[in-house]
Amino acid sequence: MCGIIGYVGKNNAKDVIISGLYALEYRGYDSSGIAYNAQNKIKIVKMEGKVANLEKKLKENNDIPNIGIGHTRWATHGKPNETNAHPHKEGITTLVHNGIIENYLELKHKLSKYYKFKSETDTEVACALIDYYVKKENNKLEALKMAQKEINGSFAFAIIFDDELNSIYIMRKDSPLIVAEKDNNYYVASDIAAILSYTNKYYLLDQGDIAKISDKIYFYDKELNSITKEINEYRGTINDVMKNGFDHFMLKEIHDEITVYKNIIRSYIPNLNINDLKKNFGNFSKYHKITIVGCGSAYHTGLVAKYLFEEFANIPTNVEMASEYRYKKIFPSKNELVILISQSGETADTLEAARIAKENKMDTLGIINVLSSSIARESNKVIYCLAGCEIAVATTKAYLAQLLILSLLSILMAYERGKISKNEANNYLKDLTKLQKDTKDIINNKEYYKEIAKDFYKDREMFFIGRNIDYGLCMEASLKMKEISYIHSEAYAAGELKHGTISLIEDNMVVFGIVTDSSIAPKTISNLKETKARGSKMILVTNKEIANNYENDNSYRFKIIVNKLNPFFQSLTIITTMQLISYYVALLKGENIDQPRNLAKSVTVE
Ligand code: AGP
Repeated sequence: MCGIIGYVGKNNAKDVIISGLYALEYRGYDSSGIAYNAQNKIKIVKMEGKVANLEKKLKENNDIPNIGIGHTRWATHGKPNETNAHPHKEGITTLVHNGIIENYLELKHKLSKYYKFKSETDTEVACALIDYYVKKENNKLEALKMAQKEINGSFAFAIIFDDELNSIYIMRKDSPLIVAEKDNNYYVASDIAAILSYTNKYYLLDQGDIAKISDKIYFYDKELNSITKEINEYRGTINDVMKNGFDHFMLKEIHDEITVYKNIIRSYIPNLNINDLKKNFGNFSKYHKITIVGCGSAYHTGLVAKYLFEEFANIPTNVEMASEYRYKKIFPSKNELVILISQSGETADTLEAARIAKENKMDTLGIINVLSSSIARESNKVIYCLAGCEIAVATTKAYLAQLLILSLLSILMAYERGKISKNEANNYLKDLTKLQKDTKDIINNKEYYKEIAKDFYKDREMFFIGRNIDYGLCMEASLKMKEISYIHSEAYAAGELKHGTISLIEDNMVVFGIVTDSSIAPKTISNLKETKARGSKMILVTNKEIANNYENDNSYRFKIIVNKLNPFFQSLTIITTMQLISYYVALLKGENIDQPRNLAKSVTVE
């Protein structure tokens, strides 16, 4: 949710921390702050709004500290303002935090005998708790161990103590935190994006781990046993976190989709052959039921994949929102596979869903983008979707990479169950070449989608309607439109509309009809026409084969037509067109496309 960065070394900590906070800004961008050593005292500077405000403020002094911690915030407790911004200081303890302290009111009550609280935050309470134990135990590590035992919730902390201004202490539970060293410079960060310009090698802290960073990194587990850590290597480059000349990360990441497909083919199906999938994905023949769990767009990949698993592999497939799944009664069954979908691999609800599935003795498969992230580490098996760093809050390439992995998995499971022959499976896989070409053509033709967006970017509401697999596509197309353009769009099952919601249709209201399944195309078309009868502007989104059946029908405002592809891959090109439409609507409205209001890239709180 929030972004944390820390630095100890030879360079100016202010510079390292500010560039790190810019790279982490997609995690939360309503206020930011820094604490560093100035003339042997801790100095704290905080600002409301973007990191640029903090950078400007810091330019007012000539401090050149060699140690510091920084934070960019997505407010959970208390308004986004300077007082609630991090770092927080109590006694000799100064810290930044990512996560939520669920029992902070109880702790606040206990500590209010000793501490005065200035902010509305849970973090300030955790700061006081740690300071309380530092005084009580007269030992920093013991204090962190004690505090950890008392805190309920999720946390990643970076801490500097007044009486030890050459060290940073860190600890985590649930919220992500990495640490790295390069040429005696030490870095702490919420994710690799913040330190990629210095190194791509890093250590991961496991649940409850504590570390002290000064002249070297000292790792401890939650019982303060000294531990060693394996080094991890990020496979991408600094280019992954640069715009490379694009106006927005979102447009750059849409352009990356072709490379992402290449990555997936190269890694999992180099010969475009079912044997590759058997070798690289493994064997899934023992599963009789699938439950797909995720949040937001990750959940939406499940809504599409459900039809592929059920139609082609004949496996009953449930799709669950993780925030509902974690609190509802579940009926675990033998040979049920729980597939967890997540770009960040840190989404709190999906992480908890993974744990619940394991507690109920179900196998878990993570389809994850971020390497070694929590959900990846806690799943029995993980298939990485190889989309590289995704910075724009609205997911594009990672959504499509997850959907492609699910589509390939459904081909493998259909083959394993003899629902499709080896030839059929290989013929489907051969279409991956067409998928790359079609996606390239759509992206090269992006100005066409800008022209379409010009027609309705000022609208306040619109609909996306479709049936079965297309309804799943509507859910994602509508979310993309909502989250970056703030137009109140709604995805609706086409056949459901006339049972009430059609009352919302007014003159000139845009209604997208997504139609990729020719067997039910006429049904969705009739539903689209029912809205036309009430004044809507219909936009047909379909493939060439279906469009041919309606070529003489000029009642559509626009027809967005992609090349025909087999049902396993058709969804991917359809969604690329919808991503471009949303991008241009938001661009024409002048919205902040990469950092939409009220959102953050990785939701590490409930
Ligand atoms: C999508 O554009 C949003 N950023 C959001 O819905 C996202 O898909 C959701 O928060 C899940 O994130 P995850 O894939 O990192 O778990």
